[in-house]
Amino acid sequence: MCGIVGYIGNSSAITPVIEGLEALEYRGYDSAGITTISDKKTLTIKQIGRVDSLKPAIDQDGDKTAKLAIGHTRWATHGVPSNTNAHPHQNTSGTIFVVHNGIIENYQTLRAMLKKDGYKFVSETDTEVIPNLIDYFLKAEKDFFSAFKLAIKELEGAYAIAAVYANDPDSIFVARLSSPLVIGVGESAHYVASDATAIMQHTKKVVYLNDYEVAVVKKAKVHIEDLRANINTSREAQELEHDLETAELGQYEHFMAKEIDEGPQTIQSASRGRLRLDGNIVKLGGLESVEAQLKYIDRIVIVACGTSYYAGLVGEYLIEEIAGIPVEVELASEFKYRHEPFSRSTALLAISQSGETADTIAALKKVEDYGVLRLGVVNAVGSTIARMTDAGVYCHAGPERSVASTKAFLAQVTVLAEIALYLSQGRSLLYKPVLKELLQLPDKLKTVLEQAEKIEALAKKYRHYRDFLYIGRGYAYPSALEGALKLKELSYIHAEAFAAGEMKHGPLALIDEHFPTFALIPDGDLLEKTLSNVQEIKARSGPVIAIATKGNKSVARLADDVIYIPPSLEQLQPLLMVPVMQLFAYYVTVHKQLDVDKPRNLAKSVTVE
Ligand code: AGP
Repeated sequence: MCGIVGYIGNSSAITPVIEGLEALEYRGYDSAGITTISDKKTLTIKQIGRVDSLKPAIDQDGDKTAKLAIGHTRWATHGVPSNTNAHPHQNTSGTIFVVHNGIIENYQTLRAMLKKDGYKFVSETDTEVIPNLIDYFLKAEKDFFSAFKLAIKELEGAYAIAAVYANDPDSIFVARLSSPLVIGVGESAHYVASDATAIMQHTKKVVYLNDYEVAVVKKAKVHIEDLRANINTSREAQELEHDLETAELGQYEHFMAKEIDEGPQTIQSASRGRLRLDGNIVKLGGLESVEAQLKYIDRIVIVACGTSYYAGLVGEYLIEEIAGIPVEVELASEFKYRHEPFSRSTALLAISQSGETADTIAALKKVEDYGVLRLGVVNAVGSTIARMTDAGVYCHAGPERSVASTKAFLAQVTVLAEIALYLSQGRSLLYKPVLKELLQLPDKLKTVLEQAEKIEALAKKYRHYRDFLYIGRGYAYPSALEGALKLKELSYIHAEAFAAGEMKHGPLALIDEHFPTFALIPDGDLLEKTLSNVQEIKARSGPVIAIATKGNKSVARLADDVIYIPPSLEQLQPLLMVPVMQLFAYYVTVHKQLDVDKPRNLAKSVTVE
């Protein structure tokens, strides 16, 4: 995810923009840049690396008289990290400057049209089409805001955009679709940013832009229009709560609700710039430095804890089935004590949302002098685990504040699927189908989340039970494990998961009318076998909530309640089934009036062994 900051006011614009960019670096960064505009000159300074790397050039050449600036921290999606690809990007004639967070899906078409019209491009980014497209319309429109709006209407994809124009040093032009953008109301100044963290130190009065809205932001006023309804809109600034967390919550009651809702965009963010259907390309920049070593890996040991461990179990099935490499998944807290043989052709893969989990760090430390390849699937950029590994793939899920991990699991499974595809080098018959389906998952997951009301009704119906069983086979088994973890760590209800095939080996003894089961029975080769487990449970009066594939009739005849997910590949069904159980656990907890985001006895990052 990239970060955007802009300032227009009575003071020098450089400082608030640079400070804002530094506050956004948690979103990931590989390069940064700033453009200042004053009636004397426009100046763009951009540099690969952290925001810090801009400071020497700003100290030397920066225009401290400029009262208008926009800045950007970039996490590469289109185009490698480089000075040329860093934002702000400008039009060919250097009069329009743009920073952008998101992805312009039709940028190739727009770029070709603009090139035909004589525009020159210097970067590999999708963003560079935006200033040139505005310029293209400005030729006929003369009014910059009209040209800006026409250009925005041509864009497809997700964006938060801030643009400035050399001939109008008093305005920042912004637009939003699917990527957040907030306007901060300061004392004789206005700020724009990707999120409130960037401007909290200057103002707590903010206006969140909505999808399809554009705005002209001047130091003393803001004009907002809804591009789709074609009307002017206005709304009062809201007062950010005293602490950042509440500000971050936006319209949600809990961070967990927000982070579950971010599931579709989380899968998109974990895929952006990595999966290309045209050409069937899986590009994992973070593994390119160890590409030669990966060719000799004949065994992978995954180490992780909690939710990350369950994501690792899904990854085991994915990598073995798609890449044909044997995988073993171990609890990091147990791995430390094992005396297992480790050949040089074994790689260790650590999975961690926080990148600071002590047990997982200890696992990496254990193999430090084994001379083996250490890989990471980490969410927190620059964290300890990220720095301890030789290479890795970031999750790009953004900050996960609720103690119970939700969107991070989706990001981890998405990245593990990408790693499986990458390691298969296109040889697997599953390569194209999984690549294609991954790109469709966000929309499919949206249809699952639209059932929130139905899931909440189930949570209210089942919230009084003291025990719960979760069962599944194949990819549904690690999904069941994660579903049980969510319920127990949030609602304190005893919940455990078993491979459905294990029922006869003991767990069936638990079942009676007081012991409900969450049965994961998506369409696939294992459907009938799991259905027979449900029959055994029903024969003992056990209540059953089932997750089934839309259109399946046989499950509804057996289960007491069913939540349907869209048809999908077996390999990717965890990305649709687990959010159902996340929502179920969330609503049970809400209706039990417990602390959703901070369950008792737990910490977000377990930094002690
Ligand atoms: C998940 O809901 C838990 N909060 C916990 O199990 C967590 O997944 C585990 O502590 C691992 O954390 P990490 O991913 O940051 O390493």
